[in-house]
Amino acid sequence: MPKKRIYLNAFDMNCVGHQSPGLWTHPDDQSSTYKDAEYWENLARLLEKGKFDAIFLADVLGTYDVYQDSRNPAVRQAAQVPVNDPAFVVPIMAQVTKHLGFGLTASTSYEHPYSFARRISTLDHLTKGRIGWNIVTSYLESAAKNLGLDQQINHDERYNIADEYLEVVYKLWEGSWEDGAVLIDKKQKIYTDPNKVHDINHNGKYFKVPGAHLCEPSPQRTPVIFQAGASKKGRQFAAKHAELVFISVPTAPIGQTFVKALREEAKNAGRNPNEIKVLSLFTPIVGRNEEEAYSKFEEYKKHTSYEGGLALFGGWTGVDLSSYDPDDKIEYIKNDAIHSALETFTKIDPEKHWTVKQVAEFVGIGGIGPVAVGSPEQVADEMEKWIEETDVDGFNIAYAVTPGTFEDFVELVIPVLQERGLVRKEYADGGLRKNLFGYEQLPDHHPARQYRKQSTLQV
Ligand SMILES: Cc1cc2nc3c(=O)[nH]c(=O)nc-3n(C[C@H](O)[C@H](O)[C@H](O)COP(=O)(O)O)c2cc1C
Repeated sequence: MPKKRIYLNAFDMNCVGHQSPGLWTHPDDQSSTYKDAEYWENLARLLEKGKFDAIFLADVLGTYDVYQDSRNPAVRQAAQVPVNDPAFVVPIMAQVTKHLGFGLTASTSYEHPYSFARRISTLDHLTKGRIGWNIVTSYLESAAKNLGLDQQINHDERYNIADEYLEVVYKLWEGSWEDGAVLIDKKQKIYTDPNKVHDINHNGKYFKVPGAHLCEPSPQRTPVIFQAGASKKGRQFAAKHAELVFISVPTAPIGQTFVKALREEAKNAGRNPNEIKVLSLFTPIVGRNEEEAYSKFEEYKKHTSYEGGLALFGGWTGVDLSSYDPDDKIEYIKNDAIHSALETFTKIDPEKHWTVKQVAEFVGIGGIGPVAVGSPEQVADEMEKWIEETDVDGFNIAYAVTPGTFEDFVELVIPVLQERGLVRKEYADGGLRKNLFGYEQLPDHHPARQYRKQSTLQV
């Protein structure tokens, strides 16, 4: 049986050091140039050369201020702060590429769906159908407070809101403007046939949107739906809506547990469990040989930040580990941050008891995901093994240093994966969904398609 191709995203954020706190101090790291268009242009060209499916841009709307009950550790170490808006770098990257997709993170908890739908349609037009949306419900209390709430909406309720949010944007993207509504008929002087533009009449528990979408249909209409819910509620949401799902897990057995539960949930939702592609966080540290790779790894370790790691961990889990001894074991505490992040380190693998120090060191390079160190062949072997053990479909490649980690991966590992028939040598034509799945718009059985309208009226 031919091997399945590996789906590949590069994982970045419009900030410094993204998943590797402290590594910005390494002489090779250029993440502090995130403010420059050139950083994004060069990265996009590199990823397209490596036949990456997409660049996935993470985002948060608050500072990581749980650790030490202060934002100072995060600010000092640049742990995802400062952080710029991810949407603006997309057209910059689209301008210098033809095929690379863009997974933009945006939260359903803070931006109104009506204006958000317009932003995404605009980007889908400008990229010629290469936009994906990583749907998040957010997890930082600091974001909630600065966006006008007294406290963060509770975890499961955020998913209820997200569900209705999707109903609204599906109605706008799929249902408001019919195919063929836009005529651009200069003779008859009709740009758009008004009979084919519909009010969505949405009147729900959380949102009221009576009118029509502001944009004409973009190539994909609905962007490719990315999601990363890993709790029960998050998995149900992903099983219903997502086309690509991200997981970040430290070990393969935990990954296997998540993937199995997600595919099960997809089956319950009436979907083919294999049509959802699962991508696992993965940080490759590769050299031309094993020795070179380990020498890089040792060098990187000297630059990780204990404080920065625990600042990120505090934000992800809602737990402040500052009063614990480095050798104390961490325990599960229920709160409204990311449920699965803390479960991963406390509940899922009964054999493993993580200490505070181990967590800080682990998170220090590549966040809550495995780090593979070795020659190009060893890293490729590790990727194949991970797929076999977890049943994921691909990887979300994080960096230790940028663009160095991506350069090494594209130059050294991609040719090995291509030789093994695991990464394509050419892109398919078309936008992101076409490239991933072979079709441009959502298939008939996706819940969004129920909102499509076919008018019988003519002008
Ligand atoms: C690879 C990966 C990337 C994520 N990126 C973001 C992000 O950029 N912004 C965000 O608010 N949440 C992000 N999350 C968090 C998820 O949206 C979600 O809150 C998390 O997976 C926990 O889901 P749960 O609450 O259902 O356990 C990410 C999660 C994963 C696994």
